[in-house]
Amino acid sequence: MYKIIDGKLIASEMRKKIKSDVAEQAKEGKEIGLAVILVGDNQASQVYVRNKIKACEEVGIKSYAYYLPAETPQNDLCGLISELAEDNNVHGILVQLPLPKHIDSEKVLKLIPKHKDVDGFSAENIGSLCINSQSLVACTPYGVMKMLEHENISVKGKKAVVVGRSNIVGKPMAMLLLNADATVTVCHSKTENLKDECLKADIIVAAIGKAKFITADMIKQGAIVVDVGMNRDKNGKLCGDVDFENVKEKCSYITPVPGGVGPMTITMLMYNTYLAAVRRCN
Ligand code: GUN
Repeated sequence: MYKIIDGKLIASEMRKKIKSDVAEQAKEGKEIGLAVILVGDNQASQVYVRNKIKACEEVGIKSYAYYLPAETPQNDLCGLISELAEDNNVHGILVQLPLPKHIDSEKVLKLIPKHKDVDGFSAENIGSLCINSQSLVACTPYGVMKMLEHENISVKGKKAVVVGRSNIVGKPMAMLLLNADATVTVCHSKTENLKDECLKADIIVAAIGKAKFITADMIKQGAIVVDVGMNRDKNGKLCGDVDFENVKEKCSYITPVPGGVGPMTITMLMYNTYLAAVRRCN
């Protein structure tokens, strides 16, 4: 028997708690602020940004939204971020990715101070995570850890396989699992015998970006399967990186798509913004 981990429910419980914590801060006269910057008119990014702003409203965080045209010069964007870095009303700064091609994303993201980097993307925050020191942690992998915690799943001593090595998900995911005492393997597109690696896993986190890539023959009986993917299948239906219908029977726990990791990501952004605010004195 498998259990479906309900990300929507866990996210909603977390948002209630964040809302009450944010309200406590407001009572003490502190309004928490998140700046969200979108450059250009990428449709998926517009949806993400809209949802982030809606989430701010839901938990009582003040959002400062900046919609800049696609042709915005890099210097203008850098100028805005430098201003926000100094603005005491703004506790978190998020630049929605991808940025237009003429902009050097790395250069832009470097201008976000570590304590306002609520995406947890900066080299400083990734470095702090690596040495298990206080940091702002990338929202998606952080959300995965919260889901496992919510289900009282201990990863200590377990063999975890992360499939995917992106800076945003795979690498920080591996670090979080390692910090929680799992034995971690990171697999990627060049991994030989991927199936054999996956078959050893007590926990698999799939963050590949390919629809239904993880199939039932790659799963050990009783494994915990977390699906970070968000793809469209051949019929245009939303699906993850895991072939859910066939894989689920072999699992002890599995996250669905939609309704699994997805709702946790923006929730963790709200949590990170709250943390960024309370860790600061102003
Ligand atoms: N683009 C896709 N996902 C994300 C995210 O989590 N943060 C930012 N800043 N941009 C993204």
